[in-house]
Amino acid sequence: MHAPIRSSASASTEFGVVPPLSSEAYSALPPTAARLVRAVQDLSLAHSIEAVREIVRHAARELTHADGATFVLRDGEQCYYFDEDAIAPLWKGQRFPMEACVSGWAMRHGEPVVIEDVFADPRVPVDAYRRTFVQSLVMVPIRAANPIGAIGNYWSQSHRATDEEVQVLQALASTTAVALENVRVYGELEKRVRERTRQLENANEELQSFSASVSHDLRAPLAIIAACADLLRLTSADALDAKARELLLKIPTQVTRMSALIDDLLRLARIREAELNVAPVDLTALAHEIARELRGREPERAVEFVAPPSEPVEGDAPLLRIALENLLSNAWKFTRHTPGARVELGHFAHGDGVRTFYVRDNGAGFAMAEATKLFTPFRRLHHAADYAGTGVGLTIVARVIDKHGGRIWAEARPGEGATFSFTLGSAR
Ligand SMILES: Nc1ncnc2c1ncn2[C@@H]1O[C@H](COP(=O)(O)OP(=O)(O)O)[C@@H](O)[C@H]1O
Ligand SMILES: [Mg+2]
Repeated sequence: MHAPIRSSASASTEFGVVPPLSSEAYSALPPTAARLVRAVQDLSLAHSIEAVREIVRHAARELTHADGATFVLRDGEQCYYFDEDAIAPLWKGQRFPMEACVSGWAMRHGEPVVIEDVFADPRVPVDAYRRTFVQSLVMVPIRAANPIGAIGNYWSQSHRATDEEVQVLQALASTTAVALENVRVYGELEKRVRERTRQLENANEELQSFSASVSHDLRAPLAIIAACADLLRLTSADALDAKARELLLKIPTQVTRMSALIDDLLRLARIREAELNVAPVDLTALAHEIARELRGREPERAVEFVAPPSEPVEGDAPLLRIALENLLSNAWKFTRHTPGARVELGHFAHGDGVRTFYVRDNGAGFAMAEATKLFTPFRRLHHAADYAGTGVGLTIVARVIDKHGGRIWAEARPGEGATFSFTLGSAR
């Protein structure tokens, strides 16, 4: 999504919005100049061809006090009379070949046409004018190089357009060219944004159906594999030699690993979709609860757990619980071989009121040099034989912290434990 946002910024500087004049500056201008400035300002804000159409057709007539004005667009080899503002109907909605009308002449030559008597000029298709009020006209091309349209003014009385009138109309036409280019750029940007949105929606849908198929399609065969291995062990163990029996015993272990992996991936996908329900959360109390559960799972281990009281944070309680569970169970896990294991949830406040929380242990630790991409899925620094796991936990934690607008980082040394610190962004 970055590209369109950047190009939208450059579009608005290139074809920028003209700042409005102060009312004193405005009233000091001669009326024609004031009317032109208003048209330029309006055009700089126009995002649609309809808006440009409204501005041009009125401004074109009012600027020269003409009896009529037309706004013509080039449509391939034809002149399309897009709109008009006149004392009586002209040619609105009609198309004429480029060679058979005055606007076509102005566009083909890239220069203004001034005609005092339409019935005496060879460039005028007289038949088209016989039914109208027009006696005199001026037509200016929109953009001198490769014109994209034209603006015409018409008078019912004989009138030779002055240089000033031609110049004023030409100024309107130049601004109209920029406005039309603006419309094209905005249209292009909107189209791109719509495309990207659709791609994102598709990706999201794919992700959701992927999650669903992971849960059903992968779990079912896994259950069958586990059941078959069980059956084999119960019914045919005698027929197998020692090596085959050993291999058979590996199946349930790997099945358990795989189903943990599926669970973690599903959790990860759900967190991405979850909406934040922010309320005060006591992280210390949560951590004590989790520590009790961890202790209950491995009552034989003596782990000292420390968590001084803290003010509640603003956050989503279920998501913060998942994050703390992962951090604390890592600390619990990686102190497995540490005598006098100690796990701590601590916090300190910065001058600006933002608090940093940290989960610290004195376990296996790791070398910082190896700790790249620690918060991406499947990244593990320890061997599964020493410390079981899927390598998805820290990715889940990082996503939860990220959803809260916070930051997470790690510090560790091999054999000297690890500290995972995080902030919760605006949720303090
Ligand atoms: N407290 C910790 N002490 C040492 N290493 C850790 C700690 N927490 C995480 N790690 C390292 O980061 C890796 C990724 O952690 P995680 O995503 O939770 O996966 P898992 O716990 O399934 O291995 C771990 O495999 C381990 O190598
Ligand atoms: Mg983990």
